[in-house]
Amino acid sequence: MAHPVRLNLKHLLHGGDYNPDQWLHAPEVLKEDLRLMELAHCNTMSLGIFGWAAYEAEEGKHDFEWLDRIFEDFAARGCSLILSTPSAGTPHWMARKYPEVLRVGSDRVRKLPGKRVSFCPTSPVYRRKVREINSLLAGRYKGHPSLLLWHVSNEYGGNDEMGACHCDLCQQAFRQWLREKYNDDLDALNRAWWNTFWSHTHTDWDQIESPAPHGEGSVHGLAIDWLRFVTHQTVGFLRNEMEPLRAITPDVPITTNLMGTFRGLDYWKFAPELDVISWDSYPRWHGSGDHPTRLEPRTELYGWTPEGADARLASDTGFLHDLNRSLKGGQPFLLMESTPSNTNWQQAGKLKRPGMHLLSSLQAVAHGSDSVLYFQWRKGRGGFEKFHGAVVDHAGHENTRVFRDVAETGKALEKLHEVAGATVEPEVAILFDWENRWAINEASGPRMDQRDYVKTCLDHYQPFWEQGVPVDVVSMDHDFSRHKILVAPMLYMLREGAAERIEAFVEAGGIFVTTYWSGIVDATDLCFMGGFPGPLRRLLGIWSEELDSLYPGETNHIASTPGNELGLEGTFEARLYCDLIHAETADVLAVYQEDFYAGRPALTRNRLGMGEAYYIASRNDDRFTGEFLRALTRRRGITPCLDTELPPGVTAQTRRHDGKEFVFLMNFTTESKRIALPGPSFTELLSGAPVTGELTLDPYGVAVLTGRQ
Ligand code: GLA
Ligand code: ZN
Repeated sequence: MAHPVRLNLKHLLHGGDYNPDQWLHAPEVLKEDLRLMELAHCNTMSLGIFGWAAYEAEEGKHDFEWLDRIFEDFAARGCSLILSTPSAGTPHWMARKYPEVLRVGSDRVRKLPGKRVSFCPTSPVYRRKVREINSLLAGRYKGHPSLLLWHVSNEYGGNDEMGACHCDLCQQAFRQWLREKYNDDLDALNRAWWNTFWSHTHTDWDQIESPAPHGEGSVHGLAIDWLRFVTHQTVGFLRNEMEPLRAITPDVPITTNLMGTFRGLDYWKFAPELDVISWDSYPRWHGSGDHPTRLEPRTELYGWTPEGADARLASDTGFLHDLNRSLKGGQPFLLMESTPSNTNWQQAGKLKRPGMHLLSSLQAVAHGSDSVLYFQWRKGRGGFEKFHGAVVDHAGHENTRVFRDVAETGKALEKLHEVAGATVEPEVAILFDWENRWAINEASGPRMDQRDYVKTCLDHYQPFWEQGVPVDVVSMDHDFSRHKILVAPMLYMLREGAAERIEAFVEAGGIFVTTYWSGIVDATDLCFMGGFPGPLRRLLGIWSEELDSLYPGETNHIASTPGNELGLEGTFEARLYCDLIHAETADVLAVYQEDFYAGRPALTRNRLGMGEAYYIASRNDDRFTGEFLRALTRRRGITPCLDTELPPGVTAQTRRHDGKEFVFLMNFTTESKRIALPGPSFTELLSGAPVTGELTLDPYGVAVLTGRQ
């Protein structure tokens, strides 16, 4: 079987994480689950994610009979199973007997048994044990009609140490990886890491250690190479898990559930290994102004959003869905986990307000998901997640608000069955690159706070979302020729070849946008010589001589130049970063208003070939980003999903399939919104009703239009 193996779904998946292993002592509960699943319009469950101790209570003593029964029950009802490999939950007996399977922290202290995703990705014992249990599972359920998909492990990386293990085995593997990378040439490594600085020159490979709080933390080249190695080693672990699955069940596709913008692993490196991308989405809807906005360390997304900011959060979540769709070049992805109501780990376990469950579920579908799956099907009686939202609550029956919301969503997905497999075809791309982000975060300077690479990408996504213009997410290794606009905020690091490909994109007619703090270093974090933005200088037609970092709360202003071709008018606020540039061949579209650099260029445009390259020199307010990117969208003739002015908080996304078009209209506000519809008539798929001329969306309402006449 050639890879990747496609899922080829004929309907959308609905269901979620199912933990029958927690209820083996209560067969009546398992029986009731089947009845409730039917009532909830669920057709798929993921299971076995933390099943290792139930499969193998003692080393070598296996019991799969309980799982056989689940498979039979599901087959009898025509339901699918997403079977997980159990590596995320290491059984106690194994951790005790083979301590090397447990992760060592950057403080060089080995974890005690417990929690989850606390394994070492290098340990030969763990890799062997995982291959064995995966082989047994694959052998047993090979050819079973209910086995739809493999779900390898769970959220690689985990919570601690961002996915890294610092044990001796990992240190050795790191040194070996470096030897291969630098062709056994230690001088080349010393040069790449600028190791003469502070007398850091290595004279033996064994002197190299991963970064540590009580050790090295100041060599950026080392830090970035270490992060690359952690990804490499985790991908190696994934391959080791997949080997027996590929060999025994070659026609069953494989996924692993990702975590959005998880900081510790470069998902661009995972995507080629997998057949299907899936991810776990937990936005904090209905934020309140009472909570301070705070960065989540794992994802660098904001922990809370201000009062009434569901629309901004919806835009951010849209970006994350788009990232997952883009990981495999636009192929539909799966929403593997989402909560039917609240979580037990966010600062406040806020419930989804009426309407939000269907809306947020269909939002994933609008952006390219072929599923709405939940964590979790049923709340456990005990354990860490007993208060996490679930389809079935401790009350144990279907007469709950959440259950009704889930059943309604299941019915909606049945009506939308034709959407399965449909694609999204964006003309705009945002560049989001993990290595670039690591390099920005590792650097000392030009400011120590509010670098906010992720947020800056999201800020540049929002204006497209507001217009209902679909967006792809790309890394700097992509071929950009499919797109008309490429926005690459804070492109600090440029790997070899990236600048040339961006230049070719512009020459062929593309519009390229970048910002301050771009074109600074190469792939090993060595600064470009001869003037920033380094290899982008010719393309942008500017020279960045100095960068001013402002204190939080300080501002400058930029004024658009009268009569500029983009039609930008008035002044905008600049904060935090003000780049002092010279326009070489570029035209100046805005200038600074204050300080000793008043009158100097703040926004430039350079023409090259058939295209244009824009440089935004300062971090400006959202109003600037909105007006500027809207102007470019019009200038490049990009058509939104629906040719109409969308009210604030409403967006549109389109999926296409077999000549059919599905336009999702979504209202992320607490007010009804009226939308003028272009063209004579559509059919709204959720109600089955024809709509002409105008459509009203309820608060948190959603509509799916098809059959544009
Ligand atoms: C993650 C995990 C799940 C569960 C949920 C709770 O996404 O993969 O096992 O813990 O969080 O939100
Ligand atoms: Zn290790």
